[in-house]
Amino acid sequence: MATEYILEINNLKTQFVVRRRRVVRAVDGVTFKVRRGKILGLVGESGCGKSVTAHSIMRLLPKTAVIPEGSIMFHPEGGESVDMVQLKPTGRKIRSIRGNEISMIFQDPMASLNPVYNIGDQIVEVLLEHSKITKKQALERAVRMLELLSIPKASERIKDYPHQFSGGMKQRVMIAMGLICRPQLLIADEPTTALDVTIQAQIIELIKEMQSEFGFSTIIITHNMGIVADMADDVAVMYMGKIVEFGTKEDVFLNPLHPYTQALLKSVPILGNAGEDKLIPIRGVTPDPSAMPPGCAFEPRCDFATEACKTCVPGRVGVTDSHIVRCVHCIGENLDD
Ligand SMILES: Nc1ncnc2c1ncn2[C@@H]1O[C@H](COP(=O)(O)OP(=O)(O)OP(=O)(O)O)[C@@H](O)[C@H]1O
Ligand SMILES: [Mg+2]
Repeated sequence: MATEYILEINNLKTQFVVRRRRVVRAVDGVTFKVRRGKILGLVGESGCGKSVTAHSIMRLLPKTAVIPEGSIMFHPEGGESVDMVQLKPTGRKIRSIRGNEISMIFQDPMASLNPVYNIGDQIVEVLLEHSKITKKQALERAVRMLELLSIPKASERIKDYPHQFSGGMKQRVMIAMGLICRPQLLIADEPTTALDVTIQAQIIELIKEMQSEFGFSTIIITHNMGIVADMADDVAVMYMGKIVEFGTKEDVFLNPLHPYTQALLKSVPILGNAGEDKLIPIRGVTPDPSAMPPGCAFEPRCDFATEACKTCVPGRVGVTDSHIVRCVHCIGENLDD
């Protein structure tokens, strides 16, 4: 029977061993769940570990990375649950999931398209690998997908090469590649950062439309709170390798409890919040990930920090059933005991 969640990440740790055996704790005990058919927004400043979390799910990490702890349970509809952490990164099982049941739109579309193959060949490659259909059928499906994504004259444009497409069109091609296999879970990593603002809005609208058409679950990764406010059902706020606040969009936007979330919301313009003149940047900088403070990682930048914050790493506190915060000043059920 299908569970309410398509993905359950529990205490995930992903680390890199760098020069002089220093360890970068890029993902440091991440726990969150993705509801089936819903959109989760994963937000946080640059370097907080969003992409490494996504690459851990896909098991697309560089060789220097290790996952010493944690689990990533994937519960496909009509299939057996699997812990992605336990799979061999190059094995048959992960290859049958990747690009098929779980697909990813990468941060940099320009680098992800191969300039020497035409658009059609690149879109159908993954489809031909995973299903028993002819190339002609696959190309027809690719044309229909591009039409859905509003690429004019799709049946002709499919023979073009990436350099003949604009940035926004290339991003649509990336979305087509991500969706052509009808994935159950789509991970979109900053799908719009390289695009100008109007095209960004169009791409977000397209992902929303596709999501309601096909009903897949989505993790959208961004540092843009406006995008999250616009499209997410649930929100995970990440800071220095940890999820510091998790809840429904209403929990996080109407009742932000972690000082980092509060600061993040005050630092960016979001429809309905203060005008740009009232925006307050977050003071200080993120700490060096290989030399983390002993207590709460946000303590050096936090306006509400007390002595306790300097020494103890805050555990997960369930404020309500849906709203979880990592801050010693939050009152609720201790979920880490
Ligand atoms: N291959 C690697 N080797 C060593 N450290 C790495 C590697 N890849 C990422 N990191 C480190 O892991 C941390 C998290 O990086 P990540 O790319 O996940 O950040 P991000 O939240 O996606 O940031 P952005 O918003 O800029 O994309 C950073 O400190 C980064 O320097
Ligand atoms: Mg990233």
